[in-house]
Amino acid sequence: GMKKVVKFISQAVILLMVVSLLAGCGAASTPSSDDTSDQTAAPEEKLKVGLSFPTQREEIWVKDKVLLEQEAEKQGIELLVQVSDNDAAKQQAQCENLLSQGIEVLIVGAHDGKAAATIVEKAHEMGVKVISFERLILDSDPDVYISFDNVKVGNVQGDWFVSHVDKGNIVILSGDPLDNNAKLFKQGAMEKLQPKIDSGDYTVVMEQAVKDWQPGEAMKLMENALTANKNNIQGVLAPNDGTAGGCIQALAAQGLDGKIPITGQDAELAGLQRIVEGVQGMTVFKDSRVICKATIEAAIKLANGEDLGANNTVNNGKMDVLSILCTPTAIDESNIDEILIDGGVFVKEDIYKQ
Ligand code: BGC
Repeated sequence: GMKKVVKFISQAVILLMVVSLLAGCGAASTPSSDDTSDQTAAPEEKLKVGLSFPTQREEIWVKDKVLLEQEAEKQGIELLVQVSDNDAAKQQAQCENLLSQGIEVLIVGAHDGKAAATIVEKAHEMGVKVISFERLILDSDPDVYISFDNVKVGNVQGDWFVSHVDKGNIVILSGDPLDNNAKLFKQGAMEKLQPKIDSGDYTVVMEQAVKDWQPGEAMKLMENALTANKNNIQGVLAPNDGTAGGCIQALAAQGLDGKIPITGQDAELAGLQRIVEGVQGMTVFKDSRVICKATIEAAIKLANGEDLGANNTVNNGKMDVLSILCTPTAIDESNIDEILIDGGVFVKEDIYKQ
């Protein structure tokens, strides 16, 4: 009697244990099969972001593109990239194409600040957030503007100019009129130059915008200014390194390179080489690492509907656009090594060629 009961109970216990073990295995494998179906149903989908760039001519746009791609990859973002080669219509078509591919955020470096308003409108119609990258998109409501303090960039150029050009005939060049930055750089520089123009220290012998920021255009303008003034020019305000390079070619043709102070911007390699050679006076460093990291961070936050933690605004003709503005740094021969070589942006051998 008793033995049979014990045997029955122990068999029942063993059976229960086996059942519960099976259930355990089942339970363990059930969630894992749920996990598999979760991956397709409630996905850890990659965030898709579009990037529309105006150009790859200036080195700064090449660097920014690479760094945005790297930063996106680090953050597990799928970045779809288009470059419009300084063509507003092409940029719009490329953006429409990006918008048709299921992106949640569109980063736009506008070729034409006014024309790009249409891009913002189309993006918003599709519920896509827009980051106005580097250049402000005008007359529209981009979700955020991420750039440098571009009036400050002009201030820095102007400060250098007035401390190196005492008096005389000066040439004032500005960037492409379709690029809002060109206006801000000039505004910032003129804050410094205007008092010396008003006092009569400076005579402006040429004041011209350089179409599309073309170095070749800048070279022609500089040639004309030199010819018209019989080479009697004491200073050149060039808005970026590309246009400075064009001007310096024209100066060199007259044996005047290194003799007339000239500004620049971008801290591109060719500009830095000219600074150490002594034919370009200064440039402005805008750290691509900083702006690109901030941009990808903002893209993620916009997609998640999170606050960007930005408290600046810049008016674009329609509204005060929420803005993240990074700080530019003036570079001349005195701080190239410290900021750009020790700072890990360039290697010494590249800047000091010989
Ligand atoms: C940028 C400059 C650049 C220029 C030409 C401007 O919008 O701020 O860094 O040199 O475009 O590409």
